[in-house]
Amino acid sequence: MKIAIINGPNLNLLGTREPSIYGSQTFEQYYSLLKLNYPSIEFSYYQSNVEGELINQIQHFGYKSDGIILNPAGYTHTSVAIGDCIAAFTTPVVEVHISNVHAREDFRKISHVSAMCKGSIIGLGLKGYDLAVQWIISYYKK
Ligand code: DQA
Repeated sequence: MKIAIINGPNLNLLGTREPSIYGSQTFEQYYSLLKLNYPSIEFSYYQSNVEGELINQIQHFGYKSDGIILNPAGYTHTSVAIGDCIAAFTTPVVEVHISNVHAREDFRKISHVSAMCKGSIIGLGLKGYDLAVQWIISYYKK
C-alpha cells in the first residue's frame, strides 16, 4: 500500500515554530518513527510552502497512491484550488491538523478542504498522522 503525506506552508519549521502550539518534534523525527511502525507501507513525504507545488503533488499522488494524508496548513483557510484538486480524484484524502483549529482564531474555523476529504483529524498533535494511516489501512479492509 502506498500512502503519501503532504504538508503545506511552514510545517518545515516544526520543532522550532510556536512549540507551545505545534510541539517540539521536527516532522522528520516523527516521520522516521512512523515509517518504522508501518514497515509494509510505502510512504512518500512532500512539503512545500508554495500552493501550486502542493496542487501538483496532490494531483500526482491522487493517481499514484492508495491514500493521501494532507495538512494544507494556512492554505486550508484560503485555497479553493486545493479543495478543487482533492475533488478531482477518488483516492481517499484525510485532512490532518496538529493544533485544534476550532479553538484558535476565527479565520482558522473556515476550511476549503474538509468537505472534499473523507474526514479530518484535528487537534491531536502529530499523532493525527498515525491515526490517519490507521484509517487508510482500515478503509481497504472493508
Ligand atoms: C495547522 C493549522 C493551520 O491553521 C495553520 O495555518 C498551520 C498548521 C495545524 O496543523 O495545526 O500552519 O494546519
